[in-house]
Amino acid sequence: MPDQQLIDYNFNQKHLLGLFNYSADDIRFVLEQAKTFREVLDRPVPKVPTLRDKTIVNLFYENSTRTRLSFELAQKRMGADVVNFSAGTSSTRKGESLKDTIRNISSMKIDMVVVRHESPGVPHFLTRCVDAAIINAGDGAHEHPTQALLDMFTMQQIYPDLKGKKIAIIGDISHSRVVRSNIVGLIKLGAEVTICGPKSLMPAFVETLGVNVSYHLEETLAWCDVAMALRIQMERMGAVTDQFPSLREYHELFGIKMAHLEKYPDFTIMHPGPINRGVELESDVADSNRAVILNQVTNGLAVRMAVLYLLSGGTRI
Ligand code: NCD
Repeated sequence: MPDQQLIDYNFNQKHLLGLFNYSADDIRFVLEQAKTFREVLDRPVPKVPTLRDKTIVNLFYENSTRTRLSFELAQKRMGADVVNFSAGTSSTRKGESLKDTIRNISSMKIDMVVVRHESPGVPHFLTRCVDAAIINAGDGAHEHPTQALLDMFTMQQIYPDLKGKKIAIIGDISHSRVVRSNIVGLIKLGAEVTICGPKSLMPAFVETLGVNVSYHLEETLAWCDVAMALRIQMERMGAVTDQFPSLREYHELFGIKMAHLEKYPDFTIMHPGPINRGVELESDVADSNRAVILNQVTNGLAVRMAVLYLLSGGTRI
């Protein structure tokens, strides 16, 4: 989208349920707004009071460190009133249904809900229960759109135009919501995607995803501009040994090591976190200057500020 069209763009989304529902231009527009918020974060006082009159609830039914802190900090930096709900310490424990919980919360006049849940489709379900704007912070193994947006933002800091860029996503593909949102978004922006991992961690119907599939780490690293490693999602599988013989063997075959960085000097390493050091990445790789993992975290704040701003009715910052 040329600059002038970007200025005139009519962003027309009420929710962020997944990147599946966003057009390429919607994605470009969000990423463009995020640049402004990224600049705000570098100011001595990194605050913009654009959500001063908004109330937001963070509804987390599943564990989270980065995503939850990032949303909360983004909301506070923008002056919103924030309430946090954790399933572990709430009336969910007393048997209250999700629908009753959200209706009660909604009676408190909430403008936006950020939700993470282990069941795919929960954010979509909430749009039918309440009026508030819903933001998906991860629904089961389905989508994690703000993670993919921050990943694409980070890639664009290195490659402003992602068209034709070669992105490898390596690891537990079948249980990852991060990979699903990234595939959808990256393809919309014209990137070429290869997924790589053991056959037992590839989803069924992998050939319908519109990506290249590789079972060889070396050939994938030789090919790519960016290598994004994913954690083995143990919480979404039975015994790890049902999927592959051992974590040690997994690391041998699919872990990115310092030797790979020396052999292939050009690719950048990304990881959504949390990292399992010594499994998907050799520890020194995670700390090396080829990794942009902590940039991803900072960029996540800017991207979430942009999403919150646009879904609260802001047009452009
Ligand atoms: C990811 C998630 O929750 O899906 N993490 C995150 O949001 N930072 C990936 C993961 O848990 O491995």
